[in-house]
Amino acid sequence: MQAKYKRILLKLSGESLAGEQKTGIDFDTVLKICEPIKKLVEIGVEIGIVVGGGNFWRGRSSGKMDRTRADHMGMLATSINALGVCDALEQLGVDTRVQTAISMREIAEPYIRGKAVRHLEKGRVVVFGCGTGNPFFSTDTAASLRAAEIEADIIVKATMVDGVYNCDPKKYPDAVKYDTLTFDEVVEKQLAVMDGTAATMCRENNIDIMVLSIENPMNIYDAVCGLPVGTLVTNK
Ligand code: GTP
Repeated sequence: MQAKYKRILLKLSGESLAGEQKTGIDFDTVLKICEPIKKLVEIGVEIGIVVGGGNFWRGRSSGKMDRTRADHMGMLATSINALGVCDALEQLGVDTRVQTAISMREIAEPYIRGKAVRHLEKGRVVVFGCGTGNPFFSTDTAASLRAAEIEADIIVKATMVDGVYNCDPKKYPDAVKYDTLTFDEVVEKQLAVMDGTAATMCRENNIDIMVLSIENPMNIYDAVCGLPVGTLVTNK
């Protein structure tokens, strides 16, 4: 198959790395998620990855901690995930680099946009850790920021649901899935695609988002090859 997009930003939720165990990292699950990534690299797709951290830390949502400190803990959680994804990719023979938004030079490269782009051009997958490096921002916002910086053609948001619905499909069995949506519709209908900051960044920078289920990781490969998978959110 031929890829529809040359450079993508893949957003992986922390939960997607936990598999059945729901918390921490299930390495077999991570390896499965990395298979389509390897296949995409083989057909010449350049891939940046932003990972979430919810499999280790959801302290922010408890409301019991200082928000900034809770977000710092979340950023550390994403860096653990970044190293896990990097290790799985390397086991599959994919060249990788980890770059973190908060400097931890003994463990990973610091985020430098120009270096990240060079790595991509050389066929390396770059895994971005620590979100944006700032509290009060989600890893979805980090995905939209990095996508804008590296000039990605699309964000592929791999989550636990297979697209965007008009209401919560877990609560309402008659929920209807959208094939495509505009960012204006997302805002107007208050659809939970990503948080407002991330959606605004994508809208203002004309970055499309493909939302798809990670349950079948090959969805990632199919979507990047242009097959109809998940929901496409676009300005067009
Ligand atoms: P080019 O040679 O520029 O194509 O890229 P490269 O990443 O191979 O070169 P570099 O010499 O920068 O890096 C060699 C190895 O050291 C790679 O595995 C990098 O990820 C790693 N590395 C580079 N800078 C840092 C850093 O600040 N901290 C850590 N922990 N590793 C680094």
